[in-house]
Amino acid sequence: MNEPHVRLDGVSLAFGRGASRMPALDRISLTLGRDEVVVVLGPSGCGKTTLLRLVAGLIPPDAGSVTIDGRPPMPGRDTAMVFQSFRLIPWKTARENIVFALPRLPRTEALERADDYLGLVGLSRFAKSWPAQLSGGMRQRLALARALAAEPAILLMDEPFASLDAQSRELMQVELMRLLERRPATVLFVTHSVDEALILADRILLMSPRPGRVVEEVEVTFPRPRWDGDSRALPRYADLRRHLWDRLRDMVLNDPGSDFHGRS
Ligand SMILES: Nc1ncnc2c1ncn2[C@@H]1O[C@H](COP(=O)(O)OP(=O)(O)OP(=O)(O)O)[C@@H](O)[C@H]1O
Ligand SMILES: [Mg+2]
Repeated sequence: MNEPHVRLDGVSLAFGRGASRMPALDRISLTLGRDEVVVVLGPSGCGKTTLLRLVAGLIPPDAGSVTIDGRPPMPGRDTAMVFQSFRLIPWKTARENIVFALPRLPRTEALERADDYLGLVGLSRFAKSWPAQLSGGMRQRLALARALAAEPAILLMDEPFASLDAQSRELMQVELMRLLERRPATVLFVTHSVDEALILADRILLMSPRPGRVVEEVEVTFPRPRWDGDSRALPRYADLRRHLWDRLRDMVLNDPGSDFHGRS
């Protein structure tokens, strides 16, 4: 078997000190295969963002190890992150937002690369626009182009489409799948949406909160490409969807720390 691209071995992490110390992740072990798309699904506060930050090398674990190709992650070397909040630079044009993320390339090459990726996400005409002149969906496409332009081996995506309307969101899911066909990457994608998970994932990791644990792994074997939407019509889709929903609902309803506790 191939060596996994990313490996977490018994990773635990707590925040705070003394009496306020709170375990965020508890003995997480998982692997990501090269060019595999793994989606993390779980209620608020179960440690999904923390997991991405560990893989990016932005924070070290208290116990256990995180490795990429057998080495500890180094921020900016192996991974690129796409955030829910876009994090675009408001005083730079679309093109310059991408160029800014490519500090190691000579400027002419960075400009060329930026234009390529603007084209891939359908924003060529907006290269000179400011982020404020773009719609929410266009800003998200720009944030995606910026992450992809770095041509990372690993793409970390933290609820990247959560703030989009339902239609833009589905279009972005297709866009992402098309881009990954052209340039595969190992993807760790966080979402609260069961449907988003089922459409994108090769494998879904279901997490439970307090402390964050991986409680189930589900292989998603619907044929690709999936952008025709046909997988939703499969009986297996409905079964998986119901199963994941039931587990998420139970976690939220049975969690005294949840905002939803006690509601019916
Ligand atoms: N920098 C920090 N300092 C202290 N506690 C933190 C920090 N970051 C996260 N936590 C705590 O760790 C736990 C996991 O947080 P995390 O942001 O990873 O959750 P999440 O699954 O991404 O939640 P959401 O779905 O709401 O984004 C939470 O209890 C949170 O309060
Ligand atoms: Mg989060």
